[in-house]
Amino acid sequence: MIRKLKKEFPSKVIIASIMGQNEEEWEYLAKEVTKAGADIIELNFSCPNMKYKGTGSDVGQDPKAVKKFTETVRHSTSLPILAKMTPNISDMRIPARASKEGGADGIAAINTIKSITDVDIDTCVPEPQVNGKSSLGGYSGQAVKPIALRYIAEMTSDVEIKDMNYSAMGGIYTWKDAVEFMLLGATSIQVTTAVMEYGYRIIDDLILGLKIYMKEKNYSNVSDFVGLANKNLISNDELDKDTVEFPKFNYEKCIGCGRCYISCMDGGHQAINFDKENRKPSLNGKNCVGCHLCKLVCQQNAISTVGKRLKKKTF
Ligand SMILES: Cc1cc2nc3c(=O)[nH]c(=O)nc-3n(C[C@H](O)[C@H](O)[C@H](O)COP(=O)(O)O)c2cc1C
Repeated sequence: MIRKLKKEFPSKVIIASIMGQNEEEWEYLAKEVTKAGADIIELNFSCPNMKYKGTGSDVGQDPKAVKKFTETVRHSTSLPILAKMTPNISDMRIPARASKEGGADGIAAINTIKSITDVDIDTCVPEPQVNGKSSLGGYSGQAVKPIALRYIAEMTSDVEIKDMNYSAMGGIYTWKDAVEFMLLGATSIQVTTAVMEYGYRIIDDLILGLKIYMKEKNYSNVSDFVGLANKNLISNDELDKDTVEFPKFNYEKCIGCGRCYISCMDGGHQAINFDKENRKPSLNGKNCVGCHLCKLVCQQNAISTVGKRLKKKTF
């Protein structure tokens, strides 16, 4: 298939994803896809649904195995190598560093997150089920995007591995999702679940949206904006705790639903007054701690925030 694809689409880049059970298989597959004309090899250290022990995410959770199999492939090909990481681990930087030591040029992340999507409350069988039984499976799509962004940001900010190439994925549906990953340091983007849901046509929308974004921002190359958000990501203890981001209501957009008021009253700091007659929220600045709950629940995008530095305020 790789040979056929390369012949039919010679200008396109082919990333061949491979996975072996031992060094012999990794070597064999690396040599075969190189011969067939692949441009890049991706090492699948991350599938959580494997039948055989010691494959897929078992490897990604074991930095020594990651290094060993990466070395095997490095000795079997001159093509660039991406090591694909599993999110079923607390610190992805550890296997990522091991893959660099083994000779990987880049990281692909994230693979799917081990999950149970539902439990049927009548049959008591978790979903998805096969003949009345279920098992842990890999979760993907929109819900995993914040988790994927976190892993990419942690790796692209790490002194030891920030110079690697990053091929990012996890919940990318739109050009805006793609830009977010690129702003955190990804140089390429992969899409699985969105294509499964909407078909390949969404790739055209992604490309078009990206082109318009770049034109509007006056970027001539993706390298003009890759990684621009990293400098704005700091550790929690470095955040300016003396500034409160107060909500600002846009009454033209507000439809008076009262969700901000209810959320702040019941789940926040009772910092929003609500004029029931005119159905308009207003701020009680004395109580507001800048938690953003009102902004998050507003379905109309009618709440923005304005930072105000207070003399001294401890939360
Ligand atoms: C049905 C399905 C099959 C997948 N098969 C593979 C696979 O064979 N190899 C692999 O590395 N990742 C595989 N993945 C993981 C995706 O490539 C991707 O890492 C993950 O789904 C997150 O991206 P997404 O939210 O765009 O789907 C699969 C994902 C899904 C949903």
